[in-house]
Amino acid sequence: MNKIPILMDCDPGHDDAIAIILALSSEKLNVLGITTACGNQTIEKTTKNAQGICEFLGRRDVPVAKGRRAPLLTPVYTAGIAHGESGLDGPQLPEPAVPLQEESAVVFMARKLEESRKPVTLVPTGPLTNIAVLLLCYPHLIQKIDRIVLMGGSVVSGCSGRGASEFNIMVDPYAADIVFTSGIPIVMMGLDVTNFTTIGFDEKEKFRRAGRVGALVADLADYFGRGFEMVGWCGVPVHDACTIAYLIDPTLFTMREMNVRIDLSGEFTMGSTVGDSYGVEGHEANALVGLASDRERFVELLLGACAGYEKGEGCNE
Ligand code: BDR
Ligand code: CA
Repeated sequence: MNKIPILMDCDPGHDDAIAIILALSSEKLNVLGITTACGNQTIEKTTKNAQGICEFLGRRDVPVAKGRRAPLLTPVYTAGIAHGESGLDGPQLPEPAVPLQEESAVVFMARKLEESRKPVTLVPTGPLTNIAVLLLCYPHLIQKIDRIVLMGGSVVSGCSGRGASEFNIMVDPYAADIVFTSGIPIVMMGLDVTNFTTIGFDEKEKFRRAGRVGALVADLADYFGRGFEMVGWCGVPVHDACTIAYLIDPTLFTMREMNVRIDLSGEFTMGSTVGDSYGVEGHEANALVGLASDRERFVELLLGACAGYEKGEGCNE
């Protein structure tokens, strides 16, 4: 099969972990490696978590490279309140048995791009620091990037706790600006779609019955879901997994092309993704933005992925 080569850049993170589970289960994707970003927790913690997930899945063949320890220009800002002290509180993951890549995330990504015969899709699900540095340091490799399918932003509303911005973009708005003005095709899965792409609280039992990986997804949903349950949501949003689900089956999502700019100066809106949803401003579209999803089919896809691991699938080398 003609697999899509991807590089995942993430900050696990409960929903990043589910994105990794989905990606490594799919025969449509060829995961060339996982790089880590400083976001939900410090870079040491998100890196250990990425390694722990691969170890849990028995995927010691997937290289993991550590990313930059701070955003480009702004201080480290983590989300312990949502993801806990470790960045992945709740489930117990095994200690990683495989060492990290010696190369940094950016050097690793550059090498993978250079080596790939096909253009590669970048899938960032954390702050865009590593991706921005990659674009700045290796401009000749931009032609090797097919597109960037990212989780971040929102064109309708925001909920980072700081004005109208979403967490990943708010943490490193300058990096986001570099990415959104790069000219590389962008698929943006923002809160407009990810907040509604949930695992229902009443669906967690189905995941527990889907085997060991399903039980892990249920445990991740338990921890990450606490805050959402408290404020009356019916399920837990699986933000980051929307990127991978889009690559596996784009028909799950309703998308619209538009121009998206990053607010770099607002006192209360710094890091907001300002989308020209109605195309009235006359700027050229630079992103395909997710606006809605078929939630039930998304859950089926994820359940199928978990069940696949039981059958010895989940091996997309
Ligand atoms: C994003 O913020 C992080 O906490 C999640 O992992 C996701 O990438 C959602 O706003
Ligand atoms: Ca994330």
